[in-house]
Amino acid sequence: MEYFVKSGNPEKQRVACVIVGVFDRRNPTESAATIDQATDGAIGSIMRRGDMDGKLGQTLVLHNLTGVFCDRVLLVGLGRERDFDEAAFRKAHATVARTLRSTGAIDAVDYLTHLTVKGRDLHWNVQQATLALESEGYRFDAMRSEKTREDLPKPKLERLTFDVPRRSDLPAGEKGLTEALAIARGVALTKDLSNLPGNVCTPAYLADQAQKLAEAYRFKAKVLEKAELEKLNMGAFLSVAKGSSEPPKLIVLEYLKGAKGEAPIALVGKGLTFDAGGISIKPAGQMDEMKFDMCGGAAVLGTFAAVAELKLPVNLVGIVPCCENLLNGEANKPGDIVTSMAGHTIEILNTDAEGRLILCDALTYAEQTYNPAVCIDMATLTGACVVALGAHASGLFANQSSLARALLTAGEQSGDRAWELPLWSEYEPQIKSEFADFANIATVGSREAGAIIGATFLHKFTKKMKWAHLDIAGTAWTGKKASGRPVPLLVQYLLNYAAKHEE
Ligand code: BES
Ligand code: MN
Ligand code: ZN
Repeated sequence: MEYFVKSGNPEKQRVACVIVGVFDRRNPTESAATIDQATDGAIGSIMRRGDMDGKLGQTLVLHNLTGVFCDRVLLVGLGRERDFDEAAFRKAHATVARTLRSTGAIDAVDYLTHLTVKGRDLHWNVQQATLALESEGYRFDAMRSEKTREDLPKPKLERLTFDVPRRSDLPAGEKGLTEALAIARGVALTKDLSNLPGNVCTPAYLADQAQKLAEAYRFKAKVLEKAELEKLNMGAFLSVAKGSSEPPKLIVLEYLKGAKGEAPIALVGKGLTFDAGGISIKPAGQMDEMKFDMCGGAAVLGTFAAVAELKLPVNLVGIVPCCENLLNGEANKPGDIVTSMAGHTIEILNTDAEGRLILCDALTYAEQTYNPAVCIDMATLTGACVVALGAHASGLFANQSSLARALLTAGEQSGDRAWELPLWSEYEPQIKSEFADFANIATVGSREAGAIIGATFLHKFTKKMKWAHLDIAGTAWTGKKASGRPVPLLVQYLLNYAAKHEE
């Protein structure tokens, strides 16, 4: 689909559909009132008949109105005006996308971008409207045969114009659109990789995709093979990969378009292409969803795609440890002790707590190779985080409060929210081991604070960096569909970071 930003009167648009909003208790927005006037009160009389009250999510398509040039007017309920907030704005646009799909309209002009959302501006409106529309339009059909793929309904809408109130608003609208299309591209890439099954999206496949991405956008990528990981003494990472015949890969991306010599931001993502749990095997129910255990790694690739698309002036490195957590005669056993790249010994008391084992070596690699200004990891790390926060917020941990604040703000801006959980030192004794430097699970208070225990383990490896950890176990997918999160949060954080560093 193609998007445009323009400024014009709703009654004069020669398009298939004009989209205007109505607030609850039949309270038309300015654009709806303009259409009402041009049509001799058509909207007012429809509201009086009770066909559109303005409830959030309500829609009504009006055909053949006289006095306007468009074929249809789509009325969108917005809820009560005083309750109209960011969530309502996004929801209205998701509704628009679904409704337009059921009409034959090939082009439309959207006037919901004129609405006032407290604390937000036109740039935000266009950005979020685009993201909502793109997200609704996403389909994953890569694994269907030609035949069933053709049976899927094709979207008819080809052109969508966001209207802005004044011509002077055009640059802000354009900026929001450009950013959103780049984010949407990154989100779609992340979803595509995440939705693929484990037999297709293997560590080798992810590594290959990373290299293709880097070629397409002209940044650097390398893939460290097993022998190189052995040389680096990544004993924790390698131990997880031992139980599978798919060799491990460490993807390393370098996008260096910021100030020369400036320390980079490092993004580290868990690329576990299938997590059966290992010898501490998971129950069979829903185990298919563990193909999503590489969503963190996919989000690193998606963020690079968006950043490269925007040509953001930042130094960014990406590190994605990829392997499978299966079980065979060589697999990790409960009680095994391994030595990490950082030199810490780890007692593996549960082979299903493997994410932290692959990440700790990736984090050490980030620290030692790049000495990053900021390091952010993202991982589908703990079921406990899903219990704590559900699907609405990623768990955020940070060893520095200004970094936490910057990420929380980016989450609010993008609608890809995170919620902070503590990294207090009081939790550290809970991963004490009888035999090694520490254990990979809690040895005290077994099921308490599982998400924090996971983060506390990673914190042992990140003390020298300004570091944050996003536990995306609850947000990276819902209902067997990848969400592309936390790409919007990260790209927004990087947009803010680049803007601040330009000053
Ligand atoms: N990949 C899982 C975490 C997960 C579970 C994400 C369910 C999303 C949904 C991770 O490797 C894991 O198995 N974690 C264990 C840790 C435990 C053994 C301490 C968990 O959460 O049960
Ligand atoms: Mn696991
Ligand atoms: Zn896992």
